[in-house]
Amino acid sequence: MSQESQNVLSAYDWLRKLYHHLLRFTKDGKEGYHYLKERGMDDETIETFQLGFAPNAQDFIAEFLAKKGFQQQLLVKAGIVSQLDNNRVTDRFRGRVIFPIRNHIGKTVAFGGRSITDEQPKYLNSPESELFQKGKLLYNFDLAKKHIRKQNEVVLFEGYMDVISAYQAGVKNVVATLGTSLTESQAKLLNRYVDTVVICYDGDRAGLAATYKAANLLRSVGCGIKVASLDEDMDPDSFIRKHGSDAFINQVIKASDTYMSFYMRYLQKDYNLNLEGDRITYIENILKELAMIESPIEREYYLKELSEAHQISIETLSAEMHGYRQKQE
Ligand code: UTP
Ligand code: MN
Ligand code: MN
Ligand code: MN
Ligand code: MN
Repeated sequence: MSQESQNVLSAYDWLRKLYHHLLRFTKDGKEGYHYLKERGMDDETIETFQLGFAPNAQDFIAEFLAKKGFQQQLLVKAGIVSQLDNNRVTDRFRGRVIFPIRNHIGKTVAFGGRSITDEQPKYLNSPESELFQKGKLLYNFDLAKKHIRKQNEVVLFEGYMDVISAYQAGVKNVVATLGTSLTESQAKLLNRYVDTVVICYDGDRAGLAATYKAANLLRSVGCGIKVASLDEDMDPDSFIRKHGSDAFINQVIKASDTYMSFYMRYLQKDYNLNLEGDRITYIENILKELAMIESPIEREYYLKELSEAHQISIETLSAEMHGYRQKQE
């Protein structure tokens, strides 16, 4: 690792402690602390995730780190402060709750800052660097690893808050991507640790589309998947807040769907199954997807389900599906 990266790590470590201290013990951090309490986080969770608060000040952080001997150029490059003009700088995170982003061995390599007002963007992250590449990192992998191994399963979320809520609720084999779609490198990493990834994204349209993409990427690297689904207006964090952890475990995680069940549900949103034309295209699309499934038992299972749902004989469906299978070869 370059000397510069080592210095950035050291600055981030000071910052993590400072932000956390401000949140926990100072007047400046009170609004951040209350924000997290309002969202149901307890002190142990705040400690575990080393959550913090960046006060709404011009250059509080810049001064603090300058006093510790860090060069201004380094702080600018690390995205801790921004250069205003020749001499003046301003702190990057102001008036935000801070989520330290740890790499896979627990070192803080970036920060996510959530606005506690309506200020945009909702989340502001540190810039990418030698230390921090969003597409290679999974949030919370360091703490989740031993639980992931033990359970041979990992639950994948969209956001930090989902991870933290689930962890607090006792579901600890949980990680999240950092505001981007799942990458091949992340999919391969997960596939090295588990047989099954439970995808549990937000219930909105964007979440469904992201689920479809992540599911296929994971399948393409040879990983088994299940899909946990939430109502349109819910994400894992809001579900846990509203219904509690038992409901989350039993009604969401344990009730997760196979890929095909998810796909059928996902596809239905694009069609009006009362229209004959739509219905035929819908069935054809399902058969194309089924054709790619290797297990004959699984194929037969869904053929039967389709047959019953749409009053088409299993023989006809099966013949059509085999047509698609031959085209693949
Ligand atoms: P969401 O919008 O689903 O956020 O984005 P959330 O986790 O539910 O946040 P709360 O509950 O409103 O606090 C999911 C993830 O996408 C990234 C963040 O990593 C977030 O956790 N994101 C989102 C950004 O990086 N920037 C944004 O402006 C929004
Ligand atoms: Mn502490
Ligand atoms: Mn979302
Ligand atoms: Mn969300
Ligand atoms: Mn949320």
